Amino acid sequence: MQKPKILVVDDEQGLRDSMRMLLEDRYEVHLAASGREAIAVVKKEPIDLVLLDIILPEIDGIEVLKIIKGIDDSIEVVMVTAVITVGKAVEALRLGAYDYITKPFDIQALTEQVGKLIEKKTLQRENLSLRRLIESEYQFEKIVGKSGAIREIFRVIDDVAGNSATVLITGESGTGKELAARAIHNRGPRKDKLFVALNCAAIPENLLESELFGHEKGSFTGAHERQLGKFEIASGGTLFLDEVGSLPLPMQAKLLRAIQEKEIERIGGGRPVPVDVRIVAATNSDLKAETKDRRFREDLYYRLNVIPIHLPPLRERKEDIPLLAEHFLRKYNHEFGKKIKGFKKDVLSLLASYNWPGNIRELENLVERLVVLNRGKEIEAEKLPAEIKGETGAAGTTEKRFKEAVMKFEAEFIRSALDKAGGKKSRAAKMLGIHRNTLIQLEKKLKI
Ligand SMILES: Nc1ncnc2c1ncn2[C@@H]1O[C@H](COP(=O)(O)OP(=O)(O)OP(=O)(O)O)[C@@H](O)[C@H]1O
Ligand SMILES: [Mg+2]
Repeated sequence: MQKPKILVVDDEQGLRDSMRMLLEDRYEVHLAASGREAIAVVKKEPIDLVLLDIILPEIDGIEVLKIIKGIDDSIEVVMVTAVITVGKAVEALRLGAYDYITKPFDIQALTEQVGKLIEKKTLQRENLSLRRLIESEYQFEKIVGKSGAIREIFRVIDDVAGNSATVLITGESGTGKELAARAIHNRGPRKDKLFVALNCAAIPENLLESELFGHEKGSFTGAHERQLGKFEIASGGTLFLDEVGSLPLPMQAKLLRAIQEKEIERIGGGRPVPVDVRIVAATNSDLKAETKDRRFREDLYYRLNVIPIHLPPLRERKEDIPLLAEHFLRKYNHEFGKKIKGFKKDVLSLLASYNWPGNIRELENLVERLVVLNRGKEIEAEKLPAEIKGETGAAGTTEKRFKEAVMKFEAEFIRSALDKAGGKKSRAAKMLGIHRNTLIQLEKKLKI
């Protein structure tokens, strides 16, 4: 273990020497004969405690105190004063000094006081680093979460960030797909190059090719200048193709070619241009299913899906809800200059029982709104929107009971059909007048 560091500031050589003798067994002692020297030491060394004389040449002790606290507020300062300057010492306390001792001092009292202060500092420091540890454990880049599912995602991102393999991120709207894509970029060797995002659903079809691959001057009406496409802009970095599922089929073919050949052709360019980009694609649709309907090229699907990352909906990782709520509270407190301390307990349980169709984005927007509108120190349940309060309210319960009754009835109905059909699914389905697949789905849903 490292010795705690103490700085003794006094213009009397004799006093500095005796302090050093007294303290050097247990502490690393630094000495300064003036305020200027003291400040230089504090800037260089992580000092825990300063014993600071009030009367100093050039810059007086009170000024030095202010400067030290300005450099690092967590450094403890004890003023050393003669009886006649006690008034000043009291002023020093107001300015953040921890205590003062009067000269000539009692050796035992001094060492005890120093010992206690150092102990307090060590405890504080451990607490602080514990908090940092927790924060970093539950946060990866900008992704917050502690559920098993999200930790697994942290792990995968860490694993893939180092290479350039294509990643396909799937997940419902608002689950953090873009955040994950950025984390992959920021964690990897391409972080100093660009992360370029293109929302494939937001670009009109006739502009997509130019957006992706660029065009030469005069290649079509309106092409007044050569323009680089996102592929070339992202060169060396990462190209994030958001909502890749909405790319029209002809563009899918061109994208596949660009990824495979690692080169692109600008519109009207003629000559292929080599590009070095990492592709991260995202979609909230079921691309696999779309390949079956021939709305998405199967070969492109496999080319993109080298490393799949699935972000589960928030309702499947409810243990993250309180953590995320706190995270957004801190974020918007800061943004709006508010000091809201937290959520009332019943608020957190209402948040946890809601279904979050809009996932984390919905939660973030809600917390932002609550922070803006809240007047008190804590956020109260009555401020929540009806759909969140309602879930466990009276109306919600009747609705829930009705649904449960229907499901129970359906389950019994299906069980008896299965019994009569001797467990044969196709026959039972026929008896019920439904498709066999529907029966299988119902069995899953009703847990038969
Ligand atoms: N785990 C998380 N921790 C902190 N913030 C998150 C997390 N997940 C999402 N967010 C925040 O929620 C919002 C939505 O995230 P993001 O844009 O990454 O979602 P998305 O899956 O791309 O959504 P969409 O499909 O609608 O584009 C962003 O403001 C993002 O910062
Ligand atoms: Mg997105």
